[in-house]
Amino acid sequence: MMRPLSRCLPKLQTPSRTLAAQQHNCSCHRIHTTATARSSAKRKQLLKPAQIESLHIPVMKDEVIHLWAGNNGGNNYLIDGTVGFGGHSLAAMETGAKVMGIDRDSHVLKMAKRRFDAAIDDQTSSSADINGTESTNDSSEADTDTTNKPYALHHGSYADISPELLQSHSFPSKVDGILLDLGMNTHQIENPSRGFTFRKQGPLDMRFDANGLHRNEVGGSLSAYEVVNTYTVDELASIFDRHADEPYAHQIAQAIVNWRNEKKKRAGIISTLELRYIIEETITKHCNTQHRSTHQKDKFLRYKQIWSTNTKERVRIATKPMQRLIQLYEQDKVKHANHVMRCFQAIRIETNDELNHLNFFLSNLSNIHNVLTTGARLVTIAFQPGEDSLVQCSMEKMVDTGEFRWLTPIEEGLRPTLDEVKVNGKSRTARLRAVEEK
Ligand SMILES: C[S@@+](CC[C@H](N)C(=O)[O-])C[C@H]1O[C@@H](n2cnc3c(N)ncnc32)[C@H](O)[C@@H]1O
Repeated sequence: MMRPLSRCLPKLQTPSRTLAAQQHNCSCHRIHTTATARSSAKRKQLLKPAQIESLHIPVMKDEVIHLWAGNNGGNNYLIDGTVGFGGHSLAAMETGAKVMGIDRDSHVLKMAKRRFDAAIDDQTSSSADINGTESTNDSSEADTDTTNKPYALHHGSYADISPELLQSHSFPSKVDGILLDLGMNTHQIENPSRGFTFRKQGPLDMRFDANGLHRNEVGGSLSAYEVVNTYTVDELASIFDRHADEPYAHQIAQAIVNWRNEKKKRAGIISTLELRYIIEETITKHCNTQHRSTHQKDKFLRYKQIWSTNTKERVRIATKPMQRLIQLYEQDKVKHANHVMRCFQAIRIETNDELNHLNFFLSNLSNIHNVLTTGARLVTIAFQPGEDSLVQCSMEKMVDTGEFRWLTPIEEGLRPTLDEVKVNGKSRTARLRAVEEK
């Protein structure tokens, strides 16, 4: 069921939560900061266009292009509100459209730029005439000359979309389509230093926008570390339930807080694998379905040893035996993967305040009107029931005003075909919805 949005509001306490995390234990904050600094160095390794090509398959590409780019003979101006690696944008540009790509993640945006430039270079003999522009919402890097360019990029949230933003990129103040392909992208998932994956050891980060832009206006610059280490049992249980329908929400929340309390004078819960471990053990204990063999018990005790070390030992985590243990744990099959996945998803949504960004954008109907031409389309792909019901609800309201009409089935939306799911498993939960301005 959709979380009431008022529940997102406690996020406005972000600064005090941050402070609480710092006061809670200075050494833990230091360790987290060190981990983040280390991770930001790694993050600088950007993927090359060819690597992106092999890694990333845009979800429901044909359906999206048909609905979003429409039949305007390639004269479209489009907004890709979640440009990611630009899979959909690139396909739209191939139809002749001009695209303004927006993303909260500056690393991803850089990769999209490289990819677009490489594609354009491939297509034109004189690439000197066509170059992309990139701006941040610091506005210092804004490049307003997009006259001959098929794309512009903006570092920020789709919640920023406004006629003024479009004009600042030399786009007309009204466009022919907006696409929101929600969630996270392959780079964020595959890169352990971002903290999104539970399969690899990494810091508990999970921020799309690690630079902390959008701290208060729409919300969302906590790190996952702060969520996991400062939320109460009820708050944690509530996000597991509302963002991910986790049936053992309360038990997992309680286990996290117990673990934190046990480790009071230490660094709190600092890494992805440690969190995974706590969730796995809670479910195992609760379901009581697993009778461990002696071998499994040994393994279990050794893994527990990794996460139960004190701060000083943890700092010396580079010691070989410890590293080896972590590697073993990474290679081990994820137990209760669905529960682990759901809890990580819930923490990511909370960390980035994703539902608030979506609601902020969708509920501002007059703003949507202001940026869409007649016949323009708003297309969304949601992967998570909370997001999808928010989209469905908002689109129903738009249609009720009499100024929009549905382009996709009202209840079901559009789902990927079986063939697509076979090729790209990540598309299996996707639900595409679209409305058109009359
Ligand atoms: C599923 S990916 C998009 C993939 C893209 N359509 C493609 O084909 O490459 C979602 C992207 O949305 C970005 N994102 C999430 N929330 C956002 C927001 N509020 N505003 C802008 N970008 C956002 C994420 O950083 C991520 O790169």
